Amino acid sequence: MTLRRDALLSVAELKQHLVGDRTTATWVEYLESIGAPDIAIELPSTDDLRPILLDFAVPHEDIDFLLDSLPTMERSEGLWWLLERCAHSMVREMGVIDGPLPFPPLPESMGVLHRYFYVYVFVAVLPHVREYYHAQGIPDQVSRPTLADLGRNMAVHRRRFQVGGLDNADWITLHFRGAIYQLGRLQFERSTLGNRTGKAVAEAGLPYAPGSPALGVHVPAFYGPLTPQACDASFERAGVFFARHFPEETYDIGVCHSWLLDDQLAQYLPPAANILHFQRRFQPAYRPAEPDDEGIVRFVFGRSTTVPDELPRRTTLERAIGDHLRAGPSLVWWHRAPALKA
Ligand SMILES: CC(C)(COP(=O)(O)OP(=O)(O)OC[C@H]1O[C@@H](n2cnc3c(N)ncnc32)[C@H](O)[C@@H]1OP(=O)(O)O)[C@@H](O)C(=O)NCCC(=O)NCCS
Repeated sequence: MTLRRDALLSVAELKQHLVGDRTTATWVEYLESIGAPDIAIELPSTDDLRPILLDFAVPHEDIDFLLDSLPTMERSEGLWWLLERCAHSMVREMGVIDGPLPFPPLPESMGVLHRYFYVYVFVAVLPHVREYYHAQGIPDQVSRPTLADLGRNMAVHRRRFQVGGLDNADWITLHFRGAIYQLGRLQFERSTLGNRTGKAVAEAGLPYAPGSPALGVHVPAFYGPLTPQACDASFERAGVFFARHFPEETYDIGVCHSWLLDDQLAQYLPPAANILHFQRRFQPAYRPAEPDDEGIVRFVFGRSTTVPDELPRRTTLERAIGDHLRAGPSLVWWHRAPALKA
């Protein structure tokens, strides 16, 4: 049964929508286990919500729905329970590198709200992340673009599915827990080396191992070309930023896991391409055994199909990927590589 938008939902009814799937069932158990929040979890009034959504760069097409569907305790006890517990799971791990259990996709039985619900969770967490930013001395010129990745990802959703929503809420929890910061063209995530990357780095003779502190390097979409100058400036800012705002953490190494680092792209792009310049900053760590054509197509074209004839051929990269997919299946790979000292 699909939930009506104005349905008055009890906590028990809401849980019924969630326990049908194994992932959400485990997650409900986890939300129950953390208990009720010992801090106030609140949502702003619709009037106060408007400018917040604009600050988050939420696409204009999505704003009316979000204002209109604002959850309240009176409107739905069930949704309010979910909102409180999700926000609590984030606030109790504010600033912690290994975060809470990931937010899973919500079931379609929740109606349109299943695509939008987590946006309210981020709004509810906002006062707490602001407090954390204040304690760490994070300036507005960093916090604003960092949190605006929420709206960017809603724009990505709209481009991909032609409807509003957010399908990677788990990624956005990093921003609202103080784990990731946008510094100019790039985003940098406080993290540690994983098992495979850590081992590869150690084998390359570098003084790091699984668990060593590392900055995850991310390239946001819809932010112009990835020029070497913009990247230089970002890396330089990262060095200063983390030393100043996280002096107890030492980051000498950056890692990136992206389709952008697939060395096969060099067969198609001119040597001066920004993407190839970006690749040259990194040393290969390992090539995953599994190909991921879908991942690259999703990022480049915003589409789910990997059928070459259905993909546009407007740019050198689009033609390259189409040709590559046509020449043989599963030839486009993700790649992870460590950067020697950002
Ligand atoms: C990363 C990004 C900014 C690089 O773009 P760029 O700076 O233009 O890159 P290059 O200069 O190397 O581009 C070389 C060619 O590929 C094209 N190209 C690059 N990225 C493209 C994209 N996402 N879609 C279509 N074409 C693209 C360029 O237009 C150029 O072709 P042209 O000379 O025919 O115009 C861009 O790919 C992007 O915004 N990607 C989305 C975000 C992303 O994927 N992040 C990584 C997540 S893991």
